[in-house]
Amino acid sequence: MTGRVAGRVALVTGASSGLGKRFAQVLAAEGAKVIVAARRKERLDDLVKEIGGNAFAVQCDVTDEAQVVAMFDAAEAKFGLVDTVINNAGMTHANNAVTQDITEFRKIMDLNVTSVWCVAREAARRLIHAGPEKSAHGRIVNIASMAGRIVIPNVTAYNTSKAACAHLSRSLAREWARYGINVNALSPGYVATELTEEWLNGEGGAKTIGKSPRRRIMDETSLDEALLFLCSDAAKYVTGTDVLVDDAQSMG
Ligand SMILES: NC(=O)c1ccc[n+]([C@@H]2O[C@H](COP(=O)([O-])OP(=O)(O)OC[C@H]3O[C@@H](n4cnc5c(N)ncnc54)[C@H](OP(=O)(O)O)[C@@H]3O)[C@@H](O)[C@H]2O)c1
Repeated sequence: MTGRVAGRVALVTGASSGLGKRFAQVLAAEGAKVIVAARRKERLDDLVKEIGGNAFAVQCDVTDEAQVVAMFDAAEAKFGLVDTVINNAGMTHANNAVTQDITEFRKIMDLNVTSVWCVAREAARRLIHAGPEKSAHGRIVNIASMAGRIVIPNVTAYNTSKAACAHLSRSLAREWARYGINVNALSPGYVATELTEEWLNGEGGAKTIGKSPRRRIMDETSLDEALLFLCSDAAKYVTGTDVLVDDAQSMG
């Protein structure tokens, strides 16, 4: 541990499993105080036990604006102003555009785009209110996907939401540049998690892995360094980017 994010108060959404859980562990290991958020509280409590005193769990459905505000209130009461946000909660779907109903399409957009905006907005409001010395340390990392750059077949809503997430990040970066708040997207390729496991272990996954240039999916550590960089002081001048970490999968 070198303390690359020491002194930071980081909030990670979707921390009850998969990438979010990993992000929380990595940020805590590098010195940040970490607020872990999701709907499944018991999983968050287990994670807090594992990380120890520098972690705090907040149950939150990030599609509910009032719960988002309450989450920041709770985080601030515990560790002080949140200066680092990992907007990671997200979902995909099984239906293609023809079989999908509008309710499911809206649900995907609501979680993968609207909630990202809502959480980022709440963080920025508080940072801006706290003044330039505080806001200059603001770091928002929105987890998009290589699916925002290429077309993954039959997940049109997901692809669309992730392209929107990346452009939302760029737009917010422009809006908040003068306050020193950096907003970037981080776009992973396939990593085995609860979101992808079933598909990766099936026929579709085997085909995709077989076609990818390196014939493999990424492991859970694959995003650690990119995440830490974007959250660290080293990324002071990096804002409005979309960092693709996909092991060349999008070129398959
Ligand atoms: N795995 C991959 O290959 C891959 C590739 C590219 C991008 N991504 C992106 O990475 C992010 C994490 O994915 P993952 O693979 O780690 O998926 P995952 O294991 O399914 O985790 C998704 C997380 O989002 C949380 N969540 C879902 N709905 C929520 C809501 N309404 N409010 C609060 N939290 C909610 C879930 O927690 P609760 O159910 O407890 O609320 C869970 O912790 C997603 O944005 C995904 O699109 C993943």
